[in-house]
Amino acid sequence: MVKIAPSILSADFVNLERDISRARDADYLHVDVMDGAFVPNLTIGVPVVQSIRKCTDMFLDVHLMIDKPVRYIEAFAQAGADLLSVHLEADHPTRIAQALDLMEQCGVKRAVALRPITSANAILPYVERLDLVLVMTVEPGFGGQAFMESQLDTIRQVRAIIDKYNPACELEVDGGINRTTAPLVSAAGANVLVAGSAVYGADDVPAAIRALREAAEG
Ligand code: DX5
Ligand code: ZN
Repeated sequence: MVKIAPSILSADFVNLERDISRARDADYLHVDVMDGAFVPNLTIGVPVVQSIRKCTDMFLDVHLMIDKPVRYIEAFAQAGADLLSVHLEADHPTRIAQALDLMEQCGVKRAVALRPITSANAILPYVERLDLVLVMTVEPGFGGQAFMESQLDTIRQVRAIIDKYNPACELEVDGGINRTTAPLVSAAGANVLVAGSAVYGADDVPAAIRALREAAEG
């Protein structure tokens, strides 16, 4: 079963509660945190996650596109995140491992994220202790970019590693996911699909979520 994770980056921030409620039939709510350093864009931080937590029971999948994320794990966990993903490119391996330790201590699910330039093998030191691997299918930083078909190979390679070492781990993809690309990533082995513009760019958000699910499940 494929899971759909609408990204609120494409929501109307003035009407965030309304837009979150429109996504309630989805599986996860994807929250993009950007620091203007790891990526050029700036988005939301801890207080907004705290407010979101108060207005929904949805599973909060918080994607940290920030340098040295180990500094903020406890804060985002306390704010109400259910899962945190840290980018493998955002710090030294020992500090990534520390970030995963902190997630465990805080009782949140553990994920690592890969920029398109990062190879699937980079997850090998961590895979056995992960709940999810996030493969970016665009360069992180902005919504509405075109899907990078070259990432299908990375998805297939990550799927093979997960199946070998930790079959319970989920494989999420993020960037340019729509009704056309959903079946491709699903066939390559992804089981959680993030979608920003394909969900919030639609007039009927629940219908867009259903359409993505149907497209992915063929
Ligand atoms: C991009 C973010 C994505 C973004 C995806 O860096 O990580 O979650 O919202 O947007 P779409 O689905 O429009 O490509
Ligand atoms: Zn994201």
